[in-house]
Order: sequence, then structure tokens, then C-alpha cells
Amino acid sequence: MKKIILIMMASMLAMVAQAAGPSIPLDSHPGDVRDTNSLQRGLGLYMSYCMGCHGLEYARYNRVARDLGIPEDIFEEYLMFTDARIGDLMTIAMSAEDGRRWFGAPPPDLTLVNRVRGSDWLYTYLRGFYADEERPFGVNNAVFENVGMPHALLELQGLCAEPLVLQRDAKIDPLSGNWLIEPGCQEYLIEGSMTPVQFDRAVADMVNFLDYMGEPFQLERQRIGIFVLAFLFVFLFFTILLYREYWKDAH
Ligand code: HEC
Repeated sequence: MKKIILIMMASMLAMVAQAAGPSIPLDSHPGDVRDTNSLQRGLGLYMSYCMGCHGLEYARYNRVARDLGIPEDIFEEYLMFTDARIGDLMTIAMSAEDGRRWFGAPPPDLTLVNRVRGSDWLYTYLRGFYADEERPFGVNNAVFENVGMPHALLELQGLCAEPLVLQRDAKIDPLSGNWLIEPGCQEYLIEGSMTPVQFDRAVADMVNFLDYMGEPFQLERQRIGIFVLAFLFVFLFFTILLYREYWKDAH
């Protein structure tokens, strides 16, 4: 018996270790994938700032339009900047070879990036660019060291002088309630058009959109799940009646 308990405890330890995830500390992503407005804002930002380099080649424009409740003509007019058709896959024109030549590494397709990296990683990565003279584009990243990607959101965020301070490293003065060390960027070399709070929200929307992208069916899956549970609950009632009926004569 003692042995069994020991084995059970050891296997639970392994589960805890796995749940801890990647070893780099990350900020947690505050999004909710059921928030359609947030998904729409994320899509808009993605189409304006990312689609030039990163395709979403496993998705189709019209499926995204339907899932996010955007009429197709509005989608075509305001969100598609190439001559692609609404039924096409969301591919881009840049070849991997050109990408490698221009950036040192080709910009990967991002349809499934949320499944690989996770929302927290993306949320920290996209806010984590800072000035670094030694890099070809003058920026480096707090989460992805020596990344080949330029700071695509510079005009919104501005340019930070140092790597961002993570939420867990921020400090509050317990007496006054003021920040001693504020989370996020401490000093901007170039001001962006958004405040830090607005920018964090914009990135959260974009990561939300990439979360949806990685599993478009998840919204429906949750809705169906509730129906299935409701059905099982009703079914349980009849099963209990049937059970009583079968055993009635045995007592
Ligand atoms: C000018 C081109 C360009 C733009 C615009 C751009 N990226 Fe990138 N991105 C790259 C390149 C190149 C890499 C590969 C970097 C490397 O591997 O060193 C990359 C890498 C990434 C990665 C890491 C992928 C991985 O798992 O390794 C993510 C996530 C990402 N980009 C998201 C975005 C988002 C979101 C936007 C829009 C806000 C964006 N990128 C805009 C060029 C770009």
C-alpha cells in the first residue's frame, strides 16, 4: 500500500512540473476568446501590421469573416489589402527564400503559432521589443533573443530603451500603493501613438485573434459542450427511472 501511495505522489509531482510550462517567465495574457469585439479588433490590427510578412495559410478569408460576424463586403473593402478573393486562403506573396535574405530567417506562417507558443508567450513577445544598436533593425526582444523580426508595432508602442519589466518583477510600495517599479517599459526613446495601457490591450486583442486562429472551432466546441452536458443530465433522470423499474421486483 505504501508503495502505491509513493508512486501516486511521484506521478503527481511530474504533472506539476509539466504544468509549469516553459522556463522563461512570462506575463499572463488577459484575453477572452469568446469576446467577438476583441477578435475583430485583433483581426484589424493583424491585417494592418502583420499580414505583410506573416500569412495565415490554413485559414480562408470568408470563414474568418463568418466566425467573427463581419459582412463579406465590408471585410473585402476594409480588411483585404491585396487582390485576393474572399474565398481564398490567407496566403502572402513573400517567398521563404526572400524572407531569409531580408530578415535572416523567413517570417513563419502564424495560423498555428498560438498552439505552439501559447498566448502568454505571444503576449509577452509582442510587447517585448527594445532598442539594441547591435541588431540589424536596431531592436532586440526580451523573450526571443536576437530575433530577425523588426519592431512591427513601433508606431503604436514607441521604442523602449530596455527589455520590459514583467508583471511579477514589478514592485508596489505597500504604504502608499504607488509603483516602485512599474510593469512594462520604463523609458521610451521614441514615443508611440498609444499609451502603455492602450497598447497592452491592443496586443491582448491580437493574441486573442491568434488564439481563435489556432482553433477556429473552439467557440462552437464550447457551445456544443454545454448542450451535451445538458442532454446527459436529462438522460440521467430517465436512467434513474429505468433503474428503479428494473429493480422493483427484486426487493
Ligand atoms: C517586416 C516583416 C515582419 C512583420 C511586419 C512582422 N513580422 Fe513577425 N517575424 C518576422 C520574421 C522575419 C520572423 C522570424 C524571426 C526569427 O526566426 O528570427 C518573425 C517572427 C515572429 C514570431 C515568432 C514565431 C515563432 O514561433 O518563432 C511571431 C509570433 C511573430 N513574428 C508575430 C508577428 C505579429 C503578431 C506581427 C504583427 C504585429 C508581426 N509578426 C509582424 C517578420 C515580420
